[in-house]
Amino acid sequence: PASPLDITPVTGRIGGEVRGVTLGATLSDGDIAAIRQALARHKVLFFRGQHHLDDAGQEDFAARLGRTVAHPTVPIRPGTRSILEIESRNGRAASSWHTDVTFVPAYPEASILRGVVIPEAGGDTAFANTVTAYQDLPDLLRDFVDRAWAVHSNDYDYATIYDDATDEEREQFQNVFASTVYETEHPLVRVHPETGERSLVLGHFLKRIIGLSSADSARLFAILQEHVTKPENVVRWRWNVGDVVIWDNRATQHRAVADFGQQARIVRRVTLDGPVPVSIDG
Ligand code: SIN
Repeated sequence: PASPLDITPVTGRIGGEVRGVTLGATLSDGDIAAIRQALARHKVLFFRGQHHLDDAGQEDFAARLGRTVAHPTVPIRPGTRSILEIESRNGRAASSWHTDVTFVPAYPEASILRGVVIPEAGGDTAFANTVTAYQDLPDLLRDFVDRAWAVHSNDYDYATIYDDATDEEREQFQNVFASTVYETEHPLVRVHPETGERSLVLGHFLKRIIGLSSADSARLFAILQEHVTKPENVVRWRWNVGDVVIWDNRATQHRAVADFGQQARIVRRVTLDGPVPVSIDG
């Protein structure tokens, strides 16, 4: 059905800019349902100019969309119920491809990110469509991923992600992100509970594909990630302060672009609880 929202697709495959909506807890049930429906269709929704939202307003709006949850290991921003503040760390905040929190069994269904301090240039966020990535795979690879499972953990090797991180930075990352180590098995392909679409479950928390040697697992992971992150599956958002971006965490990966040097960058995230992924076997 046609959406009652004014949505302009940003690329052919992922991302829609929504105009004429003032986000907040007072939106009608119809508007909330329309936003959820548009999210399932476009995977990422962009709303400009939501300057009226403060932390509480962002949380209240998010709570209309779903059940908000705090990050399992990173402390919440003081004075808020569940906000994760992502502040640039030498330009490297969240700058490798991932799906949020896949190291736990029931990982989030969506995240709502608000631009608070944005560099004059740079610090975009890129989003990739993991449904079209799956659909594009050659049949032989699709047959393999349909049956495969992988271990995801927050105890991953930061050195491989941040090549130039200092020992001190690495230790900081470990202290914050891996204070409790989780290991969870997920199917490589999940079925979306609302659209029925199949999508690839990968990203930087994936530690190894079960049944393969670590070398083969790493090679296959690289091949699959390349399919996910090719330009045809990606949209890139140039932030302004006050923008709100919502992504479907069941059908996307994302990363910040680390091109802003020492400039400040702060974004705040509220995350919605999701179900344990269901494989194609149910
Ligand atoms: C995130 O990974 O949730 C945030 C991405 C960003 O900082 O752009």
